[in-house]
Amino acid sequence: QNRMREKDIYILAIESSCDDTSVAVLHGRKTLSNLVATQQIHREYGGVVPELASRAHQQHIVPLVHQALAKANIDKKLLSAIAFTRGPGLLGSLLVGTSFAKSLALGLGIPLIEVNHMEAHILAHFIETPGKSPPPFPFLAMTISGGHTQIVKVNGYFDMEVLGETLDDAVGEAFDKTAKLLGLPYPGGPLIDKYAGQGNPEAFDFPIPKVDGLNFSFSGLKTSVLYFIQRNTKNDPDFVARERDNICASLQQTIVTILMQKLKKAARETGIRHIAIGGGVAANSGIRQALSEAEHKLGWTTYIPPFQYCTDNAGMIGIVGYLKYLDNRFTDLGVSAQARYRI
Ligand code: KG4
Ligand code: ZN
Repeated sequence: QNRMREKDIYILAIESSCDDTSVAVLHGRKTLSNLVATQQIHREYGGVVPELASRAHQQHIVPLVHQALAKANIDKKLLSAIAFTRGPGLLGSLLVGTSFAKSLALGLGIPLIEVNHMEAHILAHFIETPGKSPPPFPFLAMTISGGHTQIVKVNGYFDMEVLGETLDDAVGEAFDKTAKLLGLPYPGGPLIDKYAGQGNPEAFDFPIPKVDGLNFSFSGLKTSVLYFIQRNTKNDPDFVARERDNICASLQQTIVTILMQKLKKAARETGIRHIAIGGGVAANSGIRQALSEAEHKLGWTTYIPPFQYCTDNAGMIGIVGYLKYLDNRFTDLGVSAQARYRI
C-alpha cells in the first residue's frame, strides 16, 4: 500500500536562499523539471547584494512556477505538497520563497514542508539519477560552495551531525576573492580551475592554516595572496599576468589540500569511507582528482551528483520534501523564514 502512495507523490519545490531562484517538480525521487533563474545583476558588484537579490526573487518566482509546472507537464491539482527552503540564507531572499510557498499551499489546500538548505545539499544524492546510486548510511558529506563549507556525518535522512565547518569564509569565497585579487571577473572559481590546468602547482607556496579539529579557515589565504601579489609586483608590474597559470595552480592545490586534510581526518576518526561531495565547488577538477586518488589509495567510495544538483537548485529541496512527505513531517502555515538555521 505504501508503494502505491509513493508512486503518486508530486512535490513542487521552491529555493530562494541566496541569489538564484529555483523551482522544481518531482514525481517520487525523480525530477520532472528543475529550473533556475540566475541573477546576473550581482556580477557587476563582484558578489551578492541582498536587496537586489530579494527584488529579483519577487520578479522571477511566479513565472518560474508556471514554467516548472509546464515543463513537468502536470496540472497543479496533482501536487501532493509544497516544499520550500526555510533557511539558512539571506533573510530577504528566504522571505520571498517562504511567503510564496505558504500562499500556494493554502490556495491549493495541500501540505507545506519546510526544508533546511544544508540538509538539502546532502540529500540531493538521493534524487534518482541514471547510472548513479546514492551513498549508504552512514556516510560523510562535505558541502563546498560559495556560501558553505561543512563536513557532516549522515546517519539517516533526518539524522545528521555537523563535524566541522568554516570559521570564516566559505571555500567558494576563497576561490572568488583570491581570483578578484588576480584581476579575474566574478565568480573567479571556474577561471582559477581553468588556468590551474595549464600551470605548475608547485610554483609558489601558500600557507596551510592550523585549525583545530575538523573546522576550516580560509580568510588567511586571502591575506597571504594579497601580500604575495604586493611583494612580487613592486618591481615587476607584469608578474601576475606572466605567472597567472602558476599562481592559479598553486592556489588551487593549497585549497584542495586544506579540504582533503580535514576530510581524511574525518574519515579516519569515524571509520567511514563513503564520502559524498556537493555544492558548486564540487565541479573543481583539483578536488575531483584528489577524491579519485583517495578512492585508489584509501579505499574510499566517493559520490558527486550531476552538476545541476550540486549548485543551488530546487530539485534538492524537492527530494527532501518527498522524503519528509513519506515520513509525515509537515509544517504549520504559521512558519517563518530563518536566516540562521542549523542542521
Ligand atoms: O553552489 P553554488 O553555485 O552557489 C552557492 O551556494 O554559493 O557555488 C558557487 C561557487 C562559487 O564560489 C564558484 O566560484 C564556485 O562555486 N565554483 C568553483 C568551480 N565552479 C564553481 N570553484 C572552483 N572550481 C570550479 N570549477
Ligand atoms: Zn547552497
